[in-house]
Amino acid sequence: MPAQPPATQTGATSAADPISAARQRLIVALDVPDAATALHLVDRLEGTCSWFKVGLELYVAAGPSVLQPIIDRGHNVFLDLKLHDIPNTVAGAARSAAQLGARMLTLHASGGPAMLSAAKDALAGLTNPPELLAVTVLTSMDAGQLHATGVGRIPSSQVELLAKMGMEAGIRGFVCSPQEVATLRALTGPEGVLVIPGIRPAGAAIGDQKRIAGPAEALRLGASYLVVGRPITQAPNPAEAAAAILKEMSDAL
Ligand code: C5P
Repeated sequence: MPAQPPATQTGATSAADPISAARQRLIVALDVPDAATALHLVDRLEGTCSWFKVGLELYVAAGPSVLQPIIDRGHNVFLDLKLHDIPNTVAGAARSAAQLGARMLTLHASGGPAMLSAAKDALAGLTNPPELLAVTVLTSMDAGQLHATGVGRIPSSQVELLAKMGMEAGIRGFVCSPQEVATLRALTGPEGVLVIPGIRPAGAAIGDQKRIAGPAEALRLGASYLVVGRPITQAPNPAEAAAAILKEMSDAL
């Protein structure tokens, strides 16, 4: 398993030149239906991007073996399984996921403190375990969607509550929208690893995302890593789209 990068002020890695520094903080979401399509995209982004997110669509279709060819190409993998089950089951799943070589693994903060602690304990003592990232409120949820699930709080208050709960359970990594990143950075301090989806460069289609920001703005607000899917993967030239995002990120660093 690759070594963990040193943490910097933003919980991300440091690099000499601004584009390399930006590259270490941009995660491309491989939301595609099969391994061949995913690896084709990875190859088209060779030399431009170095972090890839394997989410549920790809993982369910291609299975755990899809991670190894990405890792073999020298890239970092973020395994976005958003685990949410009883503590014993999530602990076992986290242990299994840790064997796959991923550098980050998600679980839902709303699974509660016992579930978060069980996952953390399951990885204790492993060499280079993945960073556990607690997903606060999905970036596709607005107040109306949240209310429909019985949560009366507005998204920002719910995100803050879940992050405080996660920190008490020993979690330092969180996924939240650009709109809450400044609050979470203030809560976690420089040690927090804040991974931010819902990123839309100017002119990109918003799709189903609700709480969004541009790449530069998200970094300025305190993001450690940005997750970008469709604005790169569905662009006519994904490498060009990624390069434009990296340029915007590097200008903000
Ligand atoms: O295509 P787009 O840029 O919207 O992709 C965002 C990615 O981030 C998707 O893979 C989605 O599953 C993920 N994500 C999210 N909101 C969260 C956690 C993860 O959009 N809270």
